[in-house]
Order: sequence, then C-alpha cells, then structure tokens
Amino acid sequence: MRKFIVYMLLFFVVGTGIKAQPLKPIYLDETRPIEERVKNALSLMTLEEKVTLCHAQSKFSSKGVARLGIPEVWMSDGPHGVRAEILWDSWGYAQWTNDSCTAFPALTCLAATWNPEMSAIYGKAVGEEARYRNKAVLLGPGVNIYRTPMNGRNFEYMGEDPYLASAMVVPYIQEVQKNGVAACVKHYALNNQENWRGHINVELSDRALREIYLPAFKAAVSEGKVWSVMGSYNKFRGEHCCHNDLLLNQILKGEWKFDGTVITDWGGAHDTKQAAMNGLDIEMGTGTDGMTRSLKNAYDNYYLALPFLDELKKGTIPESVVNDKASRILRMIFRTTMNSKRPYGSLATPEHAQVARKIAEDGIVLLKNESSILPLDASKLNKIAVIGENATRKMTEGGGSSELKAKVEVSPLKALQAKYGDKITYALGYASGPPAYGRAIPSKLNADSLRKEAVKIAETADVVIFVGGLNKNHFQDCEGGDRLSYNLPFGQDRLINEIQKVNKNVVVVLVSGNAVAMPWVDKVPAIVQAWYLGSEAGNALASVLSGEVNPSGKLPFTFPKQLTDCGAHSFDKLCFPGDSINVVYKEDILVGYRWYDTKSIMPQFHFGYGLSYTTFEVSKPSTDKPVYSRAETIKMTFTVKNTGKVAGAEVPQIYVTQTKAPVLRPAKELKGFKKVYLKAGETKTITIPVKVQDMAYWDEKTNKWVIDSGEFILNLATSAGDVKYMGSVQIK
Ligand code: BGC
Repeated sequence: MRKFIVYMLLFFVVGTGIKAQPLKPIYLDETRPIEERVKNALSLMTLEEKVTLCHAQSKFSSKGVARLGIPEVWMSDGPHGVRAEILWDSWGYAQWTNDSCTAFPALTCLAATWNPEMSAIYGKAVGEEARYRNKAVLLGPGVNIYRTPMNGRNFEYMGEDPYLASAMVVPYIQEVQKNGVAACVKHYALNNQENWRGHINVELSDRALREIYLPAFKAAVSEGKVWSVMGSYNKFRGEHCCHNDLLLNQILKGEWKFDGTVITDWGGAHDTKQAAMNGLDIEMGTGTDGMTRSLKNAYDNYYLALPFLDELKKGTIPESVVNDKASRILRMIFRTTMNSKRPYGSLATPEHAQVARKIAEDGIVLLKNESSILPLDASKLNKIAVIGENATRKMTEGGGSSELKAKVEVSPLKALQAKYGDKITYALGYASGPPAYGRAIPSKLNADSLRKEAVKIAETADVVIFVGGLNKNHFQDCEGGDRLSYNLPFGQDRLINEIQKVNKNVVVVLVSGNAVAMPWVDKVPAIVQAWYLGSEAGNALASVLSGEVNPSGKLPFTFPKQLTDCGAHSFDKLCFPGDSINVVYKEDILVGYRWYDTKSIMPQFHFGYGLSYTTFEVSKPSTDKPVYSRAETIKMTFTVKNTGKVAGAEVPQIYVTQTKAPVLRPAKELKGFKKVYLKAGETKTITIPVKVQDMAYWDEKTNKWVIDSGEFILNLATSAGDVKYMGSVQIK
C-alpha cells in the first residue's frame, strides 16, 4: 500500500511555476521492457488481487485490478470467427445488435488449402474482428489431431498430420496477435473425441504423444509464440489436462518455455491443489449463475478463487505459485489490452468477406471428376437440379462453441441461382431437424415425399448438383458428441442411389468437416469436398463448380473406405471410444496415412489428394548434396509444369522414409510441401527445404529426439498415394 501512495504522489509532483509532469509508474510505462512492468505491477498488488486474476468473473471474462488501471480480460470463441456476445452469467446470447461477424471457413478447409499464406490472411482478418470487438483473447485455433472420422469436432481442427497442422497454425497465431489479441491454441491435449470428454483418461505411448499429438502445439508455442493455451477436458495418465503436471509444468512451461497463460476449457478445473500446482493460470466456466441463484457469487467459489486464497494464506501453497500465475496474466494483458499501440480492428468488412472467400476457394477439394463433367458449362445446360438440405442450410449455426452470428452467409443455392438463373430447380431431398446443443431433434418432414420429389426433378435435369454431407447438429459435426455412423445421415445414401438411377450426371458436393462412407462412389461422376465455408460458402462453391476458380485444395485427412480400416477402429472398444473411463491409443504413432500406408490398406481418398481442372507435371528432383549432418537442411529442387489449358495450383509434397531403423517407423511421413500457382503452360522451379531435425523420432529409452545415421528416402508426391519420384540421402 505504501508503495502505491508514493506512486500516486509522484503523479502529482508539486511544481513552482512549471506545470507538473506526472511520472508514470513503471508498469504503465510502455517504453520499459514488459518483464520490468510485470514485476512492478505484481509488487503493487495484494494477495487477493493476484488471486482475482486467476479465475472468471463472468462467463467469458476475468477481473483485472481496477485500482491500478489493469483491465478485465475478455475472451471469445473462436476459431472461425468472433462469436456473438454471451450473457454475463449463462450460455444464453446477449442479443446485441452490433456483434455480427464474418464467418471464415472452418479450420479443416484452411488446412486443405495447404497454403500457410492463407493462414496468415485468416489470422489477420479474424484478429482484426476480435480486436474491434475488444477481446483480449480469441479462443482458437484448434490443432487436435484427426484420429478418427467419428470425432464430432474434427471440423475445428487442422487434420491428421502434425507437420501440416504445425505449418498452418503458426501464421494464424502470428497474425491474430499482431492485433494485440492473444490467440489461445486449443485443446491441449489429446481431446480427440467428444464422448465422455470431461473425464475420459487417455493412455498412449510417449512416442505417439511426442510425434503425433504434441508437435502442432509445440509449433504454436515455439514458432507462433502464442500468448495463451487452453487445456482440454479429458484426462491424460490419470490427471485432468487443465491441471496436468507433465503436460503443463514439465512440457509446455518447462521444455517449451511457454511464457503465456494456461486457460481451462470451460469447466475443465476440478481441484484447487492440482489447479494451483500443476500449471493452470486462469479458471473459466466452472460454474455460473452465482449471481442469480445464490447470494454468494459462485465465481468466488472457483477452485482458483477463495479456496486458493485460503491455501495461500495458510501457507500450504507458497505465494510464488500465485506470483507466477499473476505474472503470466499481467504479461498477457500488457501484450493485449494494455498495448496502446495495438490497431483498432474492423468488423465484417467487405475485405474480410473477400478473405473468407479466397480461403474457401483455395480449400475446396475436387475428389472425382470423370469425363470432366466439371466445370459445368452453362451454355450446354438447360436444366440444373440442385438437391439437398445443405444447399440452403445455415452452417454457421450449431456445432457448439464455434457457432457464429454471421452478418452474411451465402447459401450454395443462392449463389448457384445467381450464376445459372432460372435453369435451377431445387428440392430439399432429405431433412434434418434444427441444431440444438446436446440433443438431436429429428425433422418432422416426411422423408419419403422429400426423396420422391427430388428424384422427380432429377429425372428431367441435364445435371444434378447434390449438396449434402453432415451438418452442425448433435451427433454430426458438433461439439459434445461424436458421430454415430460413418455413413451419411438422414437417408442421403439411399437418396443419392435413387438419383443416380434416373440421372447419370450427378455432382455430389459434401459439406462436412469429416470423412464419410461413400457406398455410391462408383456411381456418380463427380465429388467435391466443400467443408464448412462460412460467409461466402455459396459463392466459393459456385465459382469452383462453374470453373471461374480452379479447385486446388488437398485433403488434410484420409477418407477410409470403411471405418474399420482406420487405425483407431482396428482394435477393441478400449481403443475407441474407450470403456468410459479409459481410452488406449493402440494404433500408437500410426495415425491417418501413417496407418493406411504402413498396413497397406487402400483408402477411398488419400491424405494430400485433390484434383484440378488442369494437369501438372513434376520433374525428377535433385538434392543440393548427397550427405547431410543433423543440423542441416536438405534442399530438394524440381520443376512443376502446368500442362493443361487453365491456370491452377499443385501441391508437391515430400514424405520421408527411414529405410532401416531400430524402432518402428511409419512407411512415410510428410516433412515438406509447397503450394505452387501456375498459369496454363507455365513452369516453375521449386525448392522445398526439409530439416534433418524433422526426421527424428522420440526415443522412449532416453526421452530424447533421435536421428539415426544412414539412408533416408525422400518421396516427391502429389498425395500420400501418388509418389512421383524417390531419391535418397545419407545422414551422418
Ligand atoms: C469448448 C471450447 C470453448 C469453450 C468456451 C468449451 O465447451 O470446448 O472450445 O472455447 O467452451 O465456449
């Protein structure tokens, strides 16, 4: 207190004739290093004030220290746009009229662009919206690895490969944070299913943890310099991840030297001692309604509120513990809301809509295109039947916390009508119920009549565009539950089957964030994977179907032919979804294409796969030398030529194979890629760097990364299933 009075006096220096210049306390002086300011602010705070920083004061905010002019911390979901304002004390929307946002494509689409520049423009734009809305923290991006197509939240993540997810997450974070908004990478870690997510205990090997599930988080911290991390709901090795000593203290803050804040997932804290000692900094969502249901504010009863203060006062938890948490939180506040130079941001601008559209167009994946049925040539078509609920359904609604109040959401039907006018006829074809959190409400419409009506319009059409897939309902692509079936829901398989019997020109457009079974795959000439594309969904899709944009997305995860082909589904139930207490990752490091390749299982569509309206030729590559040391980077050089008639983009991918190893190594692993845009006929020389360090495996005996000496094969490919050339290098 005394120190504080001295500072206040200094503010009002008594001058004699000269106007007094207020002297800033160190923590308010932005010319001083942040660490000095943190130390100074901390020295001015009471124990109670430090504890206050460590827990929520409302559904999406935590207190600052008003006495010192340190502001509250306001957070918002993430990751596909800035969520509408939520009520102070419950999950209800606050019904503001100025919080409509741009909905950006879901992160699966971003990953499918295979273009880190798209991540950068995404991060910049969504960061500007978060800044405009005065958020200190944007709760995203998500980088949980795609382990099974059944996971209801895969659409919020960046696919099955740690190298791709790492490359894509870094620019997103960097650009968000340039706005003075902290990104919050989530859900750390192993939240790979929604079933029993609050308590399921994940068991897996150190190798799988280090090689598959942690690298994208590590990249977010070490390269992205992310300012906050969200712990996940599940347990890992018996401890909840929001207060998990190994994950938070030892790995995140110890090994990776993370200097930001660990925030719980909402309701992810379960114990004061563990929360205090095992690396948590801010507790959110444990309980609300304290202000409406009880006289005592429930926020005071949080594990990191009064119970924490009691322990600190008793000395059973040392003060250094709260000092560390408060310092991290202050650091985040200085980096965000107390950075007077942060830009002002902007919301739902035409520029942001353009960004959303560009990413959407870059991420759509063409899976099949027999006899070049696509792009659709308007001059040869008189009647286009558009069928399917997803042609008109709002996909920004539902799905859980990533739900958005989009200022604009252009549906596929609207955009196709704008392009093809009255050549379009539409039938719903099938129907699901409205989105609802935690329960699936079936549609009241009659499925037989819907199907018959659709087949009828298909009969007389020149082409059918079927827009189906999953949606954001419970048990689809949605938080809080996993899918119940690998097949398409709501009778779509039967509907597609019946449509293709009356019309051979069927283009299936799948709107989903997950792979689905395709029992009709051989019966339709074209399939487009269209993700959840956000505000500009319809426009982006129509540009691709019409050929205005040449598709160039590549799958960020494999589509297995059947669920039992997938690693996580190749063992007993303990492997997925677990026995409600434990889940054991028996497929170990063989996740995604690592599994299919190593076990020689042919998938429906490979990781990294995607067609174009043009064709490409990749030349035989060469490396800059034959032998490398462990600290070096291999440079692989080759040319890519657009051999077709329209501009397009190809993504050459480099997969590495270790030919002889003392431990199991996957058949091949992605270690480099580049998206190359080429005009018709154009050739470019490309060099892709491959860091020898990235070829390491985690040695469980020494708990270290190891790179063996010897031969490594570099596979130059255009998907995990299409290796064009193989070359080898020696590591010495
Ligand atoms: C989700 C988080 C989200 C949080 C706040 C949780 O249920 O798992 O991803 O950020 O809610 O809405």
